[in-house]
Amino acid sequence: MIYSRVVGTGRYLPEKRLTNDELAETIDTTDAWITQRTGIKARHIAAEGETTSDLAYKAAVQALEASQSGPKDIDLILVATSTPDLVFPSTATLVQEKLGIGGCPAFDVQAVCAGFAYGLSVADNFIRAGSSKKVLLIGAETFSRILDWTDRRTCVLFGDGAGAVVLEASDTAGIHSTHIHADGQFRDALCVPSGVSKRYADVIEANAFVQMDGQKVFKWAVKEMGNLARRTLAENGLAADEIDWMVPHQANIRIIESVAQKAGLSMDKVVVTVDQHGNTSAASVPMALDVALRDGRIMPGHKIMIEAFGGGFTWGSALLTM
Ligand code: ACO
Repeated sequence: MIYSRVVGTGRYLPEKRLTNDELAETIDTTDAWITQRTGIKARHIAAEGETTSDLAYKAAVQALEASQSGPKDIDLILVATSTPDLVFPSTATLVQEKLGIGGCPAFDVQAVCAGFAYGLSVADNFIRAGSSKKVLLIGAETFSRILDWTDRRTCVLFGDGAGAVVLEASDTAGIHSTHIHADGQFRDALCVPSGVSKRYADVIEANAFVQMDGQKVFKWAVKEMGNLARRTLAENGLAADEIDWMVPHQANIRIIESVAQKAGLSMDKVVVTVDQHGNTSAASVPMALDVALRDGRIMPGHKIMIEAFGGGFTWGSALLTM
């Protein structure tokens, strides 16, 4: 039996850090409101000209180093992003060019904030099928580019960043299971309602930016993510106290706390970075994973549950042994 196993992680945050107090100088908000409603204190913002593939490449280099692999060992590149550099080619091929490893397949995965969970499922299936032996999976976003910086309901929530993992084929799990879902009937609850084939001419108008029914997203995320966390445990025959760490999508501390409670996990088993990163969409889970691995909280042999949700709606989870 072939399994996939995470053998290295990395992350990159743009240099510019934007605090709630700094935001409050430009829009009608306060540090107290943002902290109380979301848990966010600061986020990082990509520099002018710094693109998603630039962030992704830097995270990838760290993950390759951590896995003691060279770029040429990689036989599949996946980039989970909703903020690609270009309409095409894909951000994955741009990262491939920066790494200098032409030849292997490279493609993007678009599932908004659930993108990393989706990418993990794709990578796991390629490895289990024997199609790939070593996969570079990156979640990378420059959400700052699709925010209306005058809209206090959305612009305080998001940030930029990239997280990467290297997965390789192994005789032992590794990834025990992945679970991915979508329901397009919620398309309008969280979206950027402009694109290439629809209303492209309006792209510089309000339609080019994130729009969100925050309360609908909140209620739905708490309910479905709680259910999915419980199903993920049940399908693996595990009790909550057998999980060492939950690494959730970092959208809002109140959502994270509610999901942990529904899954039966105490908050001291949950990795939280939303306070310092904000919501970095597909980058949030791999960055949180990297933070907790590098500071020694997550250790080899630990059982980890990952969960994420995003626009679509899309949602997913994974259970793995490090
Ligand atoms: N500062 C101060 N006041 C604000 C701000 C702000 N930044 N934003 C909104 N308000 C005001 C509103 O105008 C409203 O005022 P009013 O009562 O006078 O009309 C009041 O605060 C309450 O607004 P609500 O929208 O009801 O606030 P809520 O408690 O729902 O919190 C929030 C909003 C934080 C967005 C919450 O709904 C949430 O976190 N939802 C989930 C969002 C999420 O996770 N999105 C990411 C999904 S992942 C992806 O795919 C991208």
